[in-house]
Amino acid sequence: MESISPAEFAARRANLLAFLAAQPQPAAAVLAANPERQRSRDTDYPYRQHSDFYYLTGFNEPNALLVLRPDSAAPQQIFVQPSDPHAEVWHGRRLGVDAAAEALGMDQAYSYDDDLEQLTELLDGVETVFYLFDDTDLADLLQQFGASMRRPKSGYQGAARYSDLSGFMAQQRLYKSAAEIALMRQACSISAEAHKRAMKACKPGLFEYQLAAELHYHFAFHGASGPAYGTIVGGGDNACILHYTENSAALVDGELVLIDAGAEFHGYAGDITRTFPVNGRFSADQAALYEVVLNAQLAALAELRPGNTLLHAQQAAARAITEGLLALGILTGSLEDNLEQASHKRFFIHGLGHWLGLDVHDVGTYEVNGSKRVLEPGMVLTIEPGIYIPRGLSDVDARWQGIGIRIEDDILITANGCDNLTAAVPKTIAEIEQWMRS
Ligand code: GLY
Ligand code: MN
Ligand code: MN
Repeated sequence: MESISPAEFAARRANLLAFLAAQPQPAAAVLAANPERQRSRDTDYPYRQHSDFYYLTGFNEPNALLVLRPDSAAPQQIFVQPSDPHAEVWHGRRLGVDAAAEALGMDQAYSYDDDLEQLTELLDGVETVFYLFDDTDLADLLQQFGASMRRPKSGYQGAARYSDLSGFMAQQRLYKSAAEIALMRQACSISAEAHKRAMKACKPGLFEYQLAAELHYHFAFHGASGPAYGTIVGGGDNACILHYTENSAALVDGELVLIDAGAEFHGYAGDITRTFPVNGRFSADQAALYEVVLNAQLAALAELRPGNTLLHAQQAAARAITEGLLALGILTGSLEDNLEQASHKRFFIHGLGHWLGLDVHDVGTYEVNGSKRVLEPGMVLTIEPGIYIPRGLSDVDARWQGIGIRIEDDILITANGCDNLTAAVPKTIAEIEQWMRS
């Protein structure tokens, strides 16, 4: 599988350099690699690069800093961990300063450990420094350098302004390139096959974590770095906890199980949810409620095309869920009143979907100048309606209680409509029952 090419990483930096060059005053951008995080004594969490830093560099080491400054003779600068045979024997290979400039397409590389003072030279005379405001460690570092540069007789001119880079990054990342789409197809394909594997392995008495293990085995075996987010396997009432990740309960004959899981492949996330019967056969009540969610998902998918907005899909899903819940007697009253009051939100308690990419909840605003963003080719998003009726809701018939259903697919907007990247996972009742039987 082709990864993102060095030329594509360079083109992304060229876009950012052009944005900086278009500022009224000299401007630079500084981005930091994610830090390592301790998990327990002498043990770190698996390292994951910051998505924006990765998007611009393709570099997966911690303790690194990217500095872009278009008005410089050497506009692309990077600070990286220096080679260190002792550290590398213990913790893994490093690219090192000598190799970094060429390997990463930079004009100059420095040691993050020894040369950080160089920032003073690199940022001298820059009016506006763009960085990601969420990065409070970097904010501290930049303030420190800025303050010392502004000191009387320092000989340097420190930045007068700091500006948030996240809006620019989000706008870039929202549109996936051909190479990104190829990687996302693979992330989605691995995720889809893992769901099929878990569906087939499912039977009463298994534990939720055993289904999670089926998924994680498939992810790893097929070259994914692991799950893109905490895998959710919720049997019965546990499916009503939206971000349930304990995955510790036994799966009960006659109940449904909800699996929300996706692989991360070359940094890109898959994000699929399926809900199916633990024993392979939907009861009549489960099937009735499942059809409501499925109809809502299909109605939403039918609205995804360039020119429409997510609001079209939201309205279609809301109408389908409201009609379905009225037909089952879970909601009462007129369709118009229920739609007006959005009464379905009591049971469909989260948003319809979100952008998908390097982050599972990917960057990109949902509104532009106060209006819903218009869908365009190259955008990827999830569509994931759900109905959740936890135990103990006194005003809902007991037969519906302890059921949580969500159906989630990953959708690429294309020139003419959309492409469901996760369509391979059985979704209709007939498809699910047949797959689990086979
Ligand atoms: N797994 C998180 C989500 O579906 O948004
Ligand atoms: Mn999900
Ligand atoms: Mn999702």
